[in-house]
Amino acid sequence: MRIGIFGAGYVGLVTGTCFADLGHDVTIRDIVPARVEALRAGRVPIYEPGLKELIAKNAARLTFTTEIADVVRDADVLFVCVGTPPTHSGDADLSAVWTVVDELPQDDRRVVLVMKSTVPVGTGAKVRTALDERGLHNVGYVSNPEFLAEGSALSDFRNPDRVVIGAYEAADGDVVERLHQGIDTVFVRADVASAEMVKLAANAALAVRISFINEIANVCELTGADVNTVALGIGLDHRLGKHFLRAGIGFGGSCFPKDVSALKQLAGNAGYHFQLLASVIEVNELQKRRVIGKLQKHLGTVRDKRVALLGLAFKPNTDDMREAPSLVLSARLLAEGADVRVWDPVVEDLGQLPHGVVVCSSVEEALDGADAAVIVTEWDELKSVASADALARMRTPLIIDGRNLLDPETVRAAGFTYEGVGRAVGPAVSA
Ligand code: UDX
Repeated sequence: MRIGIFGAGYVGLVTGTCFADLGHDVTIRDIVPARVEALRAGRVPIYEPGLKELIAKNAARLTFTTEIADVVRDADVLFVCVGTPPTHSGDADLSAVWTVVDELPQDDRRVVLVMKSTVPVGTGAKVRTALDERGLHNVGYVSNPEFLAEGSALSDFRNPDRVVIGAYEAADGDVVERLHQGIDTVFVRADVASAEMVKLAANAALAVRISFINEIANVCELTGADVNTVALGIGLDHRLGKHFLRAGIGFGGSCFPKDVSALKQLAGNAGYHFQLLASVIEVNELQKRRVIGKLQKHLGTVRDKRVALLGLAFKPNTDDMREAPSLVLSARLLAEGADVRVWDPVVEDLGQLPHGVVVCSSVEEALDGADAAVIVTEWDELKSVASADALARMRTPLIIDGRNLLDPETVRAAGFTYEGVGRAVGPAVSA
């Protein structure tokens, strides 16, 4: 089939490239000319393992353009993959979605408009009304939320747990289902509102689990239990499962913070106070800040102390820093008067970092003269961070492991003071 995609961001690029790989002809449109030029020249503006190679492999079936006419012409299906960032009120900003809907040209040909972007429940109904008011009865509407996780997006596309398709007309849903031929999965056929809710509810449920295990971790620290062992014991219960029980310094990224806030806001707008999600958000904010308390416990004040933040991305295998705990941590530490050094193996766009942070090009450089190293992102490169070299470089050999990446006993045996999340706590450095 011929597919048009609005938005050459993360979702649009992965979706378009994977559909091209399934044999479809795909045209991806973006409004940023530099992005389109880069893609035409084979440069991929985001870091996602395997994506660059897959784009190159499918070059003959992939076209990049800034022109709306190029996407719409001959297309059987049009995917909306534009950003829906949160507004100051916590609602989703749908302006990019509405621009797409408003720009659709008049045509008699049947085409199916598919919403991949995460939108509030009820958006599909509003878009349907807007299409009808413009006389675009030839345009079908389907909600087909994405569940791609950054870093594993290509395999998530090829081996999805399910594909959710919410349609007004069954035939339009059939078209979207047929697009996925070659993918072995369960198709959940739904009404549009339910499909929209599945996306928000799935992300909220995962966020609930993370905040839950983070609170269990905090209680473990006070009571002598070990959260990794507890998570194992919980996860083997088939009713609970083992995923998303890794305690840490809070969730970030482009989806969880935004979608949890959007669902809470959606509920509020409809007259319901979503108490649980309010707590999930609060727990997550506090979790990022607990690192400061751990540093203070060992160093007294952090004023004029050199702190190395290792990892900037919100998780490994991505260069995405949106809502990353590193942002809150670096800003808090600067506000406390610390000398903040940061390192990340992949992140290049440092525009979001607060002014005053020193960016280092190697772990060694970040650790030179440091009073503490904080593992913020569980990059593989950091598994060997507790080395003799690091011990010699650091002024105070203190490691705060925000991701429970290291083995406490090994690290302590190497001469470091170690503190993880939800693990047995050692004595303070100063003790
Ligand atoms: C997520 C969803 O997984 C995906 O389905 C949705 O479409 C977009 O949001 P992503 O944001 O790429 O994907 O990352 P994910 O791997 O889900 O992790 C999200 C955050 O939760 C990260 O900050 C991660 O560090 C944190 N996390 C995850 C934990 O703290 N503990 C866990 O056990 C799992």
